[in-house]
Amino acid sequence: MSDILLELKNLTVSIRRDKEDIPIVKGVDIAIPRGKIVGLVGESGCGKSMTAKSVMGILPGAARVSFGSILWHDPDGTVTDLTGLKEKELRKMCGTKIGMVFQEPMTSLNPMMRIGDQVAEVLLIHKLVKNRSEARDKVIQLLNEVGIPEPELRYRSYPHELSGGMRQRVMIAMAVICEPKLLIADEPTTALDVTIEAQILKLIRQMCEARNMSAIVITHNMGVVSRLCDSVYVMYMGRIMERASVRDLFSNPIHPYTRGLLSSIPRIGENSEYLKTIPGNIPESEKETVGCEFCLRCSEDERRCFFERPEETEAEEGHFVSCFTAGPGNEVHHE
Ligand SMILES: Nc1ncnc2c1ncn2[C@@H]1O[C@H](COP(=O)(O)OP(=O)(O)OP(=O)(O)O)[C@@H](O)[C@H]1O
Ligand SMILES: [Mg+2]
Repeated sequence: MSDILLELKNLTVSIRRDKEDIPIVKGVDIAIPRGKIVGLVGESGCGKSMTAKSVMGILPGAARVSFGSILWHDPDGTVTDLTGLKEKELRKMCGTKIGMVFQEPMTSLNPMMRIGDQVAEVLLIHKLVKNRSEARDKVIQLLNEVGIPEPELRYRSYPHELSGGMRQRVMIAMAVICEPKLLIADEPTTALDVTIEAQILKLIRQMCEARNMSAIVITHNMGVVSRLCDSVYVMYMGRIMERASVRDLFSNPIHPYTRGLLSSIPRIGENSEYLKTIPGNIPESEKETVGCEFCLRCSEDERRCFFERPEETEAEEGHFVSCFTAGPGNEVHHE
């Protein structure tokens, strides 16, 4: 059995804008091992959600996968390219094998429906239970597992009667009720305050461990990555700039962008603005750049980066970087 569950290979997503196809996810390779939590981190607009949405087949109308493959490995050795599936087949697959949690539960929960019934509905739609009463028992058990006190009582609550943290617990219950193999969590704690955030991160970790479930966690917050993930991919303007185990990335960040992200982790008592330490803005034009996407904001002063895109090199075992500063014989030469 392959120890990889999902593989994105050379994934390219383009969006149609002003009669032009603009790539927003560019040749991304990501491997999700079974039972592991993989972080995808980068600034707003870099393409994190589009990457996740292409896995689920829920890209917005103007966007499409223009190149590459998304390979799902079943335990029996069957490999399915999700980009080749018909919408109905993909729906079925995503409904049971992939669960998803978003930033704002209020936009995904139906405000008019009791939360227990909403979770039960997922089981009934996928015909994973015989009847409503079996569904109800399963839901109550799961509400208990995700840390909702008095689950029988809470079953009957409406979303607005719960706190933000409790609503996110309901979303997690909904995402895992079909026992998926993969959880995609897109900014799962961004709308929560720090104490609740810590509880939700712990819960996601527990749910993954208890079920040997893999997860892709999308965040712009390096603190979330350090507390939750096993490995991490750093994305900038649609491209993966650096990837490594969390331990290696934090102890030896190589790409100037990663170093900028790490130095911008807010400290307690500090009114830190996200990424204030990396000067400059993301370029307005999203047209294909010739050189490194990060060259306009990079602290390394190297002209070559404007004309040539660095290949990915293995800086240390399992630690890959796309930067001329990394790798032997590939250093930036200062005059
Ligand atoms: N519905 C849409 N229609 C057109 N362009 C879009 C749409 N959604 C996103 N984009 C563009 O695609 C690019 C990638 O967006 P994406 O949502 O993947 O970013 P992100 O990394 O998830 O950002 P954030 O952290 O803000 O959620 C952005 O430049 C954005 O402008
Ligand atoms: Mg997003």
